[in-house]
Amino acid sequence: MNIDFKNLAQKYQTPYYAYDFNHITKQYKELKGAFKARKSLISYAIKANSNLSVVKHLADLESGADCVSIGEVKRALKVGIPKYKIIFSGVGKTDEEIKQALEFDILMINLESEAELHRVELMAKELNKEARISIRVNPNVDPKTHPYISTGLHENKFGVDINTAKRMYISAKKSEFLDPIGIHCHIGSQLTELTPIKEAVIIVADLVRNIKAALDIELKFFDVGGGLGIVYDNEKLIDTYEYAQVILDALFGLDVTVVCEPGRFIVGNSGYFVTKVLYEKTNGDKRFVIVDGAMNDLLRPSLYNAYHKIEVLNNNSEKSKCNVVGPVCESGDFFAKNIELPLTQHDDLMVIHSAGAYGFTMASNYNTRGKVVEIALENGDDRVIRDRESFEDLIVLEEKYL
Ligand code: LLP
Repeated sequence: MNIDFKNLAQKYQTPYYAYDFNHITKQYKELKGAFKARKSLISYAIKANSNLSVVKHLADLESGADCVSIGEVKRALKVGIPKYKIIFSGVGKTDEEIKQALEFDILMINLESEAELHRVELMAKELNKEARISIRVNPNVDPKTHPYISTGLHENKFGVDINTAKRMYISAKKSEFLDPIGIHCHIGSQLTELTPIKEAVIIVADLVRNIKAALDIELKFFDVGGGLGIVYDNEKLIDTYEYAQVILDALFGLDVTVVCEPGRFIVGNSGYFVTKVLYEKTNGDKRFVIVDGAMNDLLRPSLYNAYHKIEVLNNNSEKSKCNVVGPVCESGDFFAKNIELPLTQHDDLMVIHSAGAYGFTMASNYNTRGKVVEIALENGDDRVIRDRESFEDLIVLEEKYL
């Protein structure tokens, strides 16, 4: 899609996020299509981009939702995702969140510890309901991705080991307030290799067979988590058909619905963060390009040292190495270090690519900076899907206490 970033900047000012909704549709359909030979549920991981219009767009495509807080569950319900397509995961759910999830009667709650199982049982008993649950298994597989977004090893806080999972299924089966219907694993994010996924699903599928044979529990949902990588630089991506095939092969002979929880794959490459140049300066030999966006708007470079392609919209052929930095008072406030960019002038636009996932959702108001406007691009049109935050928006919860 050819996007007129300059026109959008004139219309909406900078910085802004823009999301190509047609790309989101394409990604969703590609993954759904890869599983077409099987009962499947694509439950979009709302944490990647939780803008209501984005989630609504996915709801209209018949997506489910993977949520990690009751707030995300409410977002999903708000835009019409049916309750029977909503999953609630996360290592630290509060009693209040568990109760609300039970009252909303969502598809299942994903358990991540024995202690949590007992808590969910208690809450279900209090409400006199049967909680549909799934257990997140940690298969101890190295996903070969950034350590901060790797979750499938025992050293990570996520899920439970196989023996604990078996004990939990036994407890759940005995309980009149728990109905074990699923199993889950998610080994990490931005995965670009299929082998660790294959290893993990084979381990978990064997566990499903074992549970069926030894405990007579017939699970209905096999949740493979999310994690499919996208292009930031020149990554070679996992082919979605091969991905589906590896999962379907591991599930041979099992009558389960495959659940997939992609976040980044659906929205990552749809999004652009656009900022404008304020100043250039040099400290000694070091060139800095200072822009109006900052780490509070797009945290990934600062937090993970993540690479995002940066494009300067000018025709200057003279280039040199520089750091692209924002106005926030932290040395960690940068979008890129030592990259070759054209010399810039005040008001030149810079497009930061692959910013649709974990961009806006990880933004903060640090330095009393309002969150930026979000724009949807669809079928050649553009529209605001979240207003730029004003100073008044930022102080509204404090001002009344003065
Ligand atoms: N399911 C579970 C249980 C998860 O923990 C996650 C992501 C997903 C699905 C979706 O993963 P995805 O398909 O988007 O890779 N802030 C980091 C990413 C954190 C991912 C956390 N869990 C980043 O900016 O790279």
